[in-house]
Amino acid sequence: MKILIIGADGQLGTDLAKVIPKEEQIPTTIFDIDITDKLKTLEALKKYSPDVVINTAAYHNVDACEMDAAPAFAVNFFGVKNLAQACREIDCVLVHISTDYVFDGKKSKPYVETDCPNPQSVYAISKLAGEQCVRSMLDKYFIVRSTGLYGVAGCMGKGGVNFVENMIKRATTQPELSVVVDEVLAPTYTTDLASKIYQLIQTKKYGLYHIVNHGQCSWYDFTCEIFKLLNRKIAIFKTDAKAFKALAKRPKYSVLKNAALGKLGMDDLRPWQDALSAYLLEKGYYEDRPSP
Ligand SMILES: NC(=O)c1ccc[n+]([C@@H]2O[C@H](COP(=O)([O-])OP(=O)(O)OC[C@H]3O[C@@H](n4cnc5c(N)ncnc54)[C@H](OP(=O)(O)O)[C@@H]3O)[C@@H](O)[C@H]2O)c1
Repeated sequence: MKILIIGADGQLGTDLAKVIPKEEQIPTTIFDIDITDKLKTLEALKKYSPDVVINTAAYHNVDACEMDAAPAFAVNFFGVKNLAQACREIDCVLVHISTDYVFDGKKSKPYVETDCPNPQSVYAISKLAGEQCVRSMLDKYFIVRSTGLYGVAGCMGKGGVNFVENMIKRATTQPELSVVVDEVLAPTYTTDLASKIYQLIQTKKYGLYHIVNHGQCSWYDFTCEIFKLLNRKIAIFKTDAKAFKALAKRPKYSVLKNAALGKLGMDDLRPWQDALSAYLLEKGYYEDRPSP
């Protein structure tokens, strides 16, 4: 099977390129395939002739999207449409990555795939539009929603850092940290997400999937766990999302449940605390996992 990765130098793309056997993968960056260029995207897909395309590309500076919707829709909707058309033309499977932000966050228990989306920001609307485009244009697709991603490459769309690195960096210059407690999610390690996407592709059970590490926490809890695992003492204070005066509205509760994966007997993702520990180990923050 030939699997073409769009955005192979991004956070998730880097881990997909690690997980998928070298002989099966065609890693591409925006310099090889820019999905906003319809003709070149089609040409490239015809040239590489993959069996599966995994689209990790997104415009996901969530606050910038509120000020200017055009780049968000260019990548997250029109780019996805270009890719879906090209996949249809060469008859290959499209794996498209989406987000927990498609939900409004009003639930108090984990969202399953059959829950109704209600996006609250320009970014979220553009991502849901991308999902709907894939569904309406293709039969052979996987839409994979995940949440709070962190991986060794860092998030390219957010300046090459992820939340974990951001907190560790802030702790070197600030005596105390204030972190949001009223947004609850299931932070997910891109290594775990990439492995599960690769397994899911083999099943050919097309459709919509939530894939996240197990459990849930607020950004505040997540930060406390980072410094607990690093055995570093720092004052961490709870604050609410309002204090940050962010332009985009974020869901208060966006924990996802891997319900569809569970039905396939494939929901064996580890708890977010274990995944975080594995990440810190992979980044070289400690030599060995701390004993529980
Ligand atoms: N990060 C999160 O917390 C999070 C949470 C939920 C869902 N997601 C979704 O997960 C996916 C992967 O996120 P990530 O954190 O891995 O993002 P990332 O690190 O920003 O990676 C995205 C990759 O796509 C590339 N790209 C951007 N625009 C492109 C275009 N027009 N054509 C081709 N490639 C393009 C980027 O290249 P350049 O860097 O050169 O632009 C980058 O390599 C996205 O769909 C995102 O919406 C992310």
